[in-house]
Amino acid sequence: MESITSLGRSGLQVPRLGIGAMTWGDPTGLARWSPAKLAYGGAHGIDEEKQALEVSLTAGVTLFDTAAMYSGGASERRLGELSRGKEVLIATKFPPSLFSKTEDMPQALDASLARLGRSSVDLYQHHFPSNRVSIPKLMDLMADAVEAGKVKAVGVSNYSAEQMRIAHAALARRGIALASNQVEYSLLHRQPEVNGVLDACHELGVTLIAYQPLASGALTGKYATGARPTGLRRFMGTFRGQGLEAATPVVSLLREIGERYAKSPAQVALRWLIENENVLPIPGAKNGKQAFDNAGALSFCLTPVEIDTLNQATLAWRT
Ligand SMILES: NC(=O)c1ccc[n+]([C@@H]2O[C@H](COP(=O)([O-])OP(=O)(O)OC[C@H]3O[C@@H](n4cnc5c(N)ncnc54)[C@H](OP(=O)(O)O)[C@@H]3O)[C@@H](O)[C@H]2O)c1
Repeated sequence: MESITSLGRSGLQVPRLGIGAMTWGDPTGLARWSPAKLAYGGAHGIDEEKQALEVSLTAGVTLFDTAAMYSGGASERRLGELSRGKEVLIATKFPPSLFSKTEDMPQALDASLARLGRSSVDLYQHHFPSNRVSIPKLMDLMADAVEAGKVKAVGVSNYSAEQMRIAHAALARRGIALASNQVEYSLLHRQPEVNGVLDACHELGVTLIAYQPLASGALTGKYATGARPTGLRRFMGTFRGQGLEAATPVVSLLREIGERYAKSPAQVALRWLIENENVLPIPGAKNGKQAFDNAGALSFCLTPVEIDTLNQATLAWRT
């Protein structure tokens, strides 16, 4: 399997694994209480984030995902500061409609570029669809930004299969390929396989960028019933109710498979995603140790039998 691939049919060359910078940066004022910070908590700062960036670049993980809405722009600012002068690919996002209208897109993009300290962004994604945003109109503005040289590839996020088709057709009219749809996808969240998104990605030649590929840390195996994570995350997703208990056999299986290759549960969980050529996971990493561990997913392969065993063990998360 190639270590570099085109993001969808956009021609943008990307590694098979990226890194999520949602928790990066020091928010000020109201942004201190942003969802990303509240959910993830945890002690980390610029030194740890710098290490995460450097370790990732050394390992060939050059794609960094952020968004205008992460901590009120603090994540973009931090990524811009740490990546200055380095060869990195930056993916960021136009805020959802609660915070902006369709026609705000050009100004929102300029504000992101200013925070990142760049004249262009590699991938610009629409963060969330909404009834208040016209997808064709937004894609037209995206196409204008590509033509102006401010955006290299256009993506969407949290789009259904039907919404992807609308975005794809609108961009195609301007001769531009829809590069990616960023959605939640992991062994503990397999909805893209049944809601039509994975099939639409395949059919349209669009890369599925998998967010929360470690189920917010649950698939690393470090959390158990008595050791829940910091922040509001403990009340969400897998950490809610009996979710962690239900996931225990999956983590045990990841550990068992990982032992064959001297790999961690997180590395096996990420590799399960990477084995699908159309999927690109972007695990969040708070420090160099986590970034190093996650990058190790690039340097081994799972057998078809191991992939099938993981598929069968997580059928309950496919509904
Ligand atoms: N488009 C969207 O709507 C959307 C939504 C959510 C996220 N995202 C993107 O997806 C990225 C990843 O999602 P996520 O950060 O929510 O979830 P995730 O990648 O599943 O989990 C990340 C968390 O797991 C822990 N971790 C990561 N690697 C580890 C390792 N090797 N060993 C041990 N612990 C490890 C860290 O938290 P602890 O150390 O505190 O456990 C880290 O913050 C985000 O940064 C963001 O860019 C996009």
